[in-house]
Amino acid sequence: MSPMLAVFTATLLCVGHSLPLSFQSRKHDGFQTEGQFTEKYFTQTLDHFNFNSMGNGTFQQRYLITDKYWKEGYGPIFFYTGNEGDIWEFAANSGFISELAAQQGGLVIYAEHRYYGRSLPFGKDSFSSPQVGLLTVEQALADFALMISELKQQLAAPLCPVIAFGGSYGGMLSAYMRLKYPNMVAGALAASAPVLSTAGLGDSRQFFRDVTADFERVSPACRDAVRGAFQQLTELAQLQDYSRIQSEFFLCSPLASSQDIQQLYGLLRNAFTLMAMLDYPYSTQFMGNMPANPVKVGCETMLSGPDLLTNLRNTAGIVYNSTGGLSCFDLYTLYLQCADPTGCGLGLDSLAWDYQACTEMNLCYESNNVTDMFPPMAFTETDRERYCSQRWAVLPRPGWLKTQFWGDALSTASNIIFSNGDLDPWANGGVRRSLSSSLVAVNISEGAHHLDLRASNAADPVSVISARKTEAQLIAQWVEQERLRSQRSL
Ligand SMILES: *[C@@H]1O[C@H](CO)[C@@H](O)[C@H](O)[C@H]1NC(C)=O
Ligand SMILES: *[C@@H]1O[C@H](CO)[C@@H](O)[C@H](O)[C@H]1NC(C)=O
Ligand SMILES: *[C@@H]1O[C@H](CO)[C@@H](O)[C@H](O)[C@H]1NC(C)=O
Ligand SMILES: *[C@@H]1O[C@H](CO)[C@@H](O)[C@H](O)[C@H]1NC(C)=O
Repeated sequence: MSPMLAVFTATLLCVGHSLPLSFQSRKHDGFQTEGQFTEKYFTQTLDHFNFNSMGNGTFQQRYLITDKYWKEGYGPIFFYTGNEGDIWEFAANSGFISELAAQQGGLVIYAEHRYYGRSLPFGKDSFSSPQVGLLTVEQALADFALMISELKQQLAAPLCPVIAFGGSYGGMLSAYMRLKYPNMVAGALAASAPVLSTAGLGDSRQFFRDVTADFERVSPACRDAVRGAFQQLTELAQLQDYSRIQSEFFLCSPLASSQDIQQLYGLLRNAFTLMAMLDYPYSTQFMGNMPANPVKVGCETMLSGPDLLTNLRNTAGIVYNSTGGLSCFDLYTLYLQCADPTGCGLGLDSLAWDYQACTEMNLCYESNNVTDMFPPMAFTETDRERYCSQRWAVLPRPGWLKTQFWGDALSTASNIIFSNGDLDPWANGGVRRSLSSSLVAVNISEGAHHLDLRASNAADPVSVISARKTEAQLIAQWVEQERLRSQRSL
């Protein structure tokens, strides 16, 4: 995931950070964020759960705020629980929240997640041991809770109801805020939040099966062309014809080993992952540059000529060579292998996500060329343990997230919207059916990864327009309920 962030810019679930400049897309054309938000820092407690280790130590946590739409002291607070990347990136791609604030008189805050973007508790030493140990979901949620309570005081907004928002891992965090801190948030919009699969409650084949389904939906011939291209590549690899592979794929450096082949498979598979996740009906600059309807564009490219390897190279180019400025593909800088087979992004953010994938987040997804169109690439719990103990000297705890955040026994919670787009390979790792009248699953039939959080666009399908209406109504209702509750308790 990086759920979202399993991506390669500065964000996703490995959604990432410190990238090559070509991927440092900071053009916020999705929504006009420049000028709208003020960037600030909050003095945050380093360790919420141990009074000895860090004493009263603090760090500077970044957040963005706008009161442009706020009915001062009265309107709700819409609080984005930042996920695995630079917080501006999320603000630029979640314009729906500001649209809702304009309708409902809301104050908007985007809080950056600790260890991402500029919110590095120990600066450049943040990813050393033991410093990295304060990177946990629990610490991040406590950060948000403390920030909410202190900012409410500072802003003279003690009775303003707070609604948490988030997409992907950020959506998981918004749902968790409602589970863990219902005193702080009256409800949550958890968009494209794979709360079940990341808790180990899923099928390891699901993710790449659903990526495949997106391409198959455009045409079964597209799926067959991808499979055929990987087959040709695999045959060349078996013959160890590395120079031919290098020239076919425009690789910067010669290949020398089966490890290089695995890296090439990973890089290619990741291009399909990103096109599927970001299959929006208009071009975007979120986790890279994508054309409108990238899955369709990818399929057209896969079927564009008789040479499947050329087609596969050009399809990867949609993702890695969107500017047309790349003379060759550099295998080890365009894509990083990590504890998240859906990608960890690049730069420092990718380190943070990798660590999270090695500790609390379960992301053991495999491809197998049977339930999906990709070469068999396993990533078992044993592979994960081996990798994580070598890379971070930690052993994952596969059962912890499920224990800590209720697993699939969510039905006694309240006021959470679980929205998912049918085109999003993360969707089937999330809650797809409503669990009660206030735990509402919203399906967006033509939606990719949290399309509903994006600003309105002329190309929006009706399904997302209707999803946003439902979300707006529920949120308005929860804000009213919370006002009544807090008035009664006064
Ligand atoms: C931290 O706590 C110690 C012990 O009470 C105190 O002496 C010190 O001034 C505190 N430091 C800060 C930065 O508040
Ligand atoms: C994928 O499976 C097909 C049979 O469905 C087989 O012909 C092909 O060789 C396999 N490809 C790879 C890369 O393993
Ligand atoms: C990138 O795109 C340009 C323009 O289409 C093309 O000339 C170049 O060969 C591409 N680079 C790679 C590595 O495919
Ligand atoms: C959403 O779609 C899933 C998968 O297709 C389906 O099982 C579920 O019932 C749908 N949920 C709603 C609320 O329509």
